[in-house]
Amino acid sequence: MVKIAVLGYGTVGSGVVEVFEKNRESISRKAGQEIEVKYVLDLRDFPGDPVEKKLVHDYQVILEDPEIQVVVETMGGLKPAYDFSKQALLAGKSVCTSNKELVARHGMELMEIAREKNVNYLYEASCGGGIPIIRPLNTCLTADVIDEISGILNGTTNYILTKMESDGTDFETALREAQAKGYAERNPEADVEGYDACRKIAILSSLAFGSQVDYQDIYTEGITKITAEDIKYARAIGTSIKLLATSRRVENGVYAMVSPVMIGAENPLYSVTGVFNAVFVHGNMLGDAMFYGQGAGKLPTASAVAGDVVDCARHIGKNIPLSWGNEKLNLMDTGDVKHRFFVRIQGSLSDRLPAVEAAFGQVETITVPGIEGEFAFITGEMPEAAYRDGAEKTEGIVHMIRARF
Ligand code: HSE
Repeated sequence: MVKIAVLGYGTVGSGVVEVFEKNRESISRKAGQEIEVKYVLDLRDFPGDPVEKKLVHDYQVILEDPEIQVVVETMGGLKPAYDFSKQALLAGKSVCTSNKELVARHGMELMEIAREKNVNYLYEASCGGGIPIIRPLNTCLTADVIDEISGILNGTTNYILTKMESDGTDFETALREAQAKGYAERNPEADVEGYDACRKIAILSSLAFGSQVDYQDIYTEGITKITAEDIKYARAIGTSIKLLATSRRVENGVYAMVSPVMIGAENPLYSVTGVFNAVFVHGNMLGDAMFYGQGAGKLPTASAVAGDVVDCARHIGKNIPLSWGNEKLNLMDTGDVKHRFFVRIQGSLSDRLPAVEAAFGQVETITVPGIEGEFAFITGEMPEAAYRDGAEKTEGIVHMIRARF
């Protein structure tokens, strides 16, 4: 029997306890032995809750109990999750987590300790919630050189953008609706500014490219500046605006970026709507693959954490090698990254087109009935630095969104 402790009885932690209760038999069969939640650590009391019997307030009880072989960290944040995870690993206990912030910042160090101690630090739930992506990258796709990972990695922003698209509402209205439905936090900054997706793509890129990708190096732009007019233009040409987290190997290096991108219907991520997440992977042997599912929520996320616990139970006394190397990957300067650019500009098409083409080369133009006093154009593929040069020379630019179609 493997005994485990769950740190934090919040949404995900209580989900993990529920998964082990509901699926006890099938999990035991798959793990090759029974798995029992012995302790739940939380500062709070839960009078009347069945978890009461397992509840402890002092982490030392867990650390000093030799029966505990796996610690599930579902506290979130860096403090005290980092210290607790490190102490557990140093005490020879495996740790499974859903904490993307901690994995993106300290994952390499924690994996290194796990390796030295012959235990495991696993974090399937940190990216894409319930979607299996980390284990596939680490085990199934090991024969491939990964060229690209592009994902819709944040359910809150995908819900907001889908709402703006289907209802024609502005960002603020869609955000308020997402908050009312519990899909967005009261303080939505980490989601809507792209910080959450940034940490997730840093983790996936580190695994895919085998070197440490620092999330601080990733250019990150959220969805707060996307307007109802942007969406109208996108719909008029059969495209959709998504918050994409991308890392890609191109001829002059690897780039990583989080930003709104206008994508065409031929892109498999086009039809990913609402709170769903999807991760598109291109491998040099595999070609295209896409992983799709629920990127958040109590039970989907808990299912991924519990799956990691099963993996730990199958590998007691053995460290599972991970492809995340400790050498830092220097990402390309965003100025060298090539895109097409969708640009809205004030004025009439006939007056402004010569100046636009002088600055950006040949462009495709878009006008939308009902949007007056401006038009839009889409450039050919060009480095961001060349776009910025053109934009500096051009008056009246209202908004730019990267385009991929
Ligand atoms: N706030 C996150 C999202 C939760 O909306 O995707 C899962 O990490």
